[in-house]
Amino acid sequence: MADQRFLVCASVLLLSLFPLTKSLDYKDALSKTILYFELQRSGHLPFNQRATWRDHSGLTDGLEQGVDLVGGYHDAGDNIKFGLPMAFTVTMLSWSVLEYHEEIAAAGELQHALEAIKWGTDYFIKAHTHPHVLWVQVGDGGTDHYCWQRPEDMTTSRRAYKIDEKHPGSDVAGETAAAMAAASIVFRTTNPHYSHLLLHHAKQVFEFGDKFRGKYDDDLINVKGFYPSVSGYKDELLWAGLWLYKATRKMEYMDYVIQNAHSFGGITWAMQEFSWDVKYAGVQIMASMVISQPLLHRDEHKKTLYKYREKAEHYICSCLNTTKHTPGGLLFTRKWNNLQYVTNAAFLLTVYSDHLKSTNQNIICHNKVIIGADDVFNFAKSQVDYILGLNPMNMSYLVGYGTKYPKRVHHRGASIISYKSNKAFIGCMQGYRGWFGRRKANPNVLTGAVVGGPDDHDRFRDVRANYMQTEACTYNAAPLLGTLGKLVGSGGSVRRQ
Ligand SMILES: *[C@@H]1O[C@H](CO)[C@@H](O)[C@H](O)[C@H]1NC(C)=O
Ligand SMILES: *[C@@H]1O[C@H](CO)[C@@H](O)[C@H](O)[C@H]1NC(C)=O
Repeated sequence: MADQRFLVCASVLLLSLFPLTKSLDYKDALSKTILYFELQRSGHLPFNQRATWRDHSGLTDGLEQGVDLVGGYHDAGDNIKFGLPMAFTVTMLSWSVLEYHEEIAAAGELQHALEAIKWGTDYFIKAHTHPHVLWVQVGDGGTDHYCWQRPEDMTTSRRAYKIDEKHPGSDVAGETAAAMAAASIVFRTTNPHYSHLLLHHAKQVFEFGDKFRGKYDDDLINVKGFYPSVSGYKDELLWAGLWLYKATRKMEYMDYVIQNAHSFGGITWAMQEFSWDVKYAGVQIMASMVISQPLLHRDEHKKTLYKYREKAEHYICSCLNTTKHTPGGLLFTRKWNNLQYVTNAAFLLTVYSDHLKSTNQNIICHNKVIIGADDVFNFAKSQVDYILGLNPMNMSYLVGYGTKYPKRVHHRGASIISYKSNKAFIGCMQGYRGWFGRRKANPNVLTGAVVGGPDDHDRFRDVRANYMQTEACTYNAAPLLGTLGKLVGSGGSVRRQ
């Protein structure tokens, strides 16, 4: 490597200090990550459910409103079904499978990954009851958080909320369209009928979201304290446009992404984070990767796509340099659930590093520092390695992986005795009194969950009430599936002494 080349970060130096006694088993981590999605299931669990401490729940979801909303995922440690983060989770699971299909298959987990995606998309199909109606939430943040109950016991409100022409939600519609479009590609060969159905819904939901513009939390007041769309809906509309282009190869979708590039902020926002709310970096990275496609020969396309690429590379350079890192080398965006930004960044960087490699390109960051595909990938790997235990706490933030991992995950189901072993009803307050405040480890392991993670000095307090660090979310784990697939595939499965 040329010596002016950027040597990736302090993290690499630090890694060489801790770890050599430890070996990382990426394949085991990947299998666990997929299992987690079974633990977050709502609805009627199938006969082949492997995560056995959970049971059926939410079997009357939607009934009050006369719609069948049984199924889907809980977002985190509560029992609500939030449409926006759920859809983002499914988009990232699908993208992971699309990029690292073979690696995930070689790890023996492809079938499970497809099931995890389908558990989400089956629900989105049910929730899309009319071309211009999408049900986007079941349960109420207020009453759910007031109680500490297993999903199998819930006595809280299960009211369902929708968006429609009079109460638009272009953000949640855009993300749901993206999820269904991405999944339609995943199922194209194995389940063509289902794939076609998903694409049909994706197109309709996108048209609805684009035609009736608005932020879903303007009307859906209930979601404001939990998943407000702070970045607005324009990023999701571009994101959906790109996913629909990828799924259909129809120019009308690419034209949308090009024509709205400026007014929607796609080529003006320079980002340092990518999350369930803020999709710009993902849009920019996806747009950069289609530049070389022969279909896109028009100058107008190319010119705009290069502008997307400029911003994509800004994001990557930021991750490697500008964004704060902890002394142990972890990307640090904010203290509440920081690991979501890390797993999402690691995935984007991994995908982009593959793209750099296959197109034989480098990135030029600030002050003409040249970064190559390996630098980008090594940084992504350092982040995953940190999560799996190569960090100052020697703690794996992937629950159930290794010997030391969070034992008091902020999660209603995991922290209360399993419904399977004790069916006696546990009431709203009884859960807080008997289970939430205990010092003891959770009775059930939330295998494969990625918790919020450590603070900006690599410190982590394994306390249930410390929800900023000990709560796990589905959108932390979803992109990790892809990165772990890549790591398994690159033969780095075991780090030898
Ligand atoms: C990191 O960022 C600073 C400030 O933006 C810049 O001066 C420096 O050259 C960058 N270093 C690398 C290695 O990218
Ligand atoms: C982590 O492991 C290293 C090497 O085994 C050890 O020196 C260090 O004290 C450990 N740190 C903690 C917080 O357990």
